[in-house]
Amino acid sequence: MKIDSYSQRLPQIIDELAEQGWSRQLDFLPQALTRELAEECRARAQRGALSAAGVGRGEALAVRESVRGDSIQWLEAGEHAACDQYLAIMDRLRQALNQALYLGLEDYESHFALYPPGAFYQKHLDRFRDDDRRTVSAVFYLNDAWQAEQGGALRLYPDAAPSLDVLPRAGTLALFMSAQMPHEVLPATRERLSLTGWFRRRAV
Ligand code: OGA
Ligand code: MN
Repeated sequence: MKIDSYSQRLPQIIDELAEQGWSRQLDFLPQALTRELAEECRARAQRGALSAAGVGRGEALAVRESVRGDSIQWLEAGEHAACDQYLAIMDRLRQALNQALYLGLEDYESHFALYPPGAFYQKHLDRFRDDDRRTVSAVFYLNDAWQAEQGGALRLYPDAAPSLDVLPRAGTLALFMSAQMPHEVLPATRERLSLTGWFRRRAV
């Protein structure tokens, strides 16, 4: 098998996560695969498969557009070839993170997300109060030719460094430590698509 571009990124991703708690990879996947994922996200949105995302978990789960305004659908294996390819790549990343950082990551859960123009997600942490399995957050963006003036950045707040913005441009993968990195999604002037997911460890 040829050496895929994403395999070559693994050492840098591991170093950056260990040293600064986040990593940003431009053009992480081949353009054709990124395009297929974007088309699948739009197709699901068009057939009404996405639903308003909630805040919280279990019985406390509630839709609050003043906190987050996206619509989502969870990925299942075996539904779509491009999605399965994406899940296979993320599983290799999971194994590489385990080997290098001993994170004990057991699985990866992921959903498509669509933010309509003006929608946002207020500053938050990805780890729930009553469930500490989410360990590394991974957001893969699906938006062609995104411009900074269009807003929609992912803003990260590292505790020992100034905040930084990641543009949701097609092919960019943002990774960060779920329990330590406050972050928010800024409103945009155009629709914003992504595949957002979490590497999870065993519950303790
Ligand atoms: C989330 C989230 C970031 C993004 O869904 O928890 O923070 O850039 N998403 O979409
Ligand atoms: Mn988040």
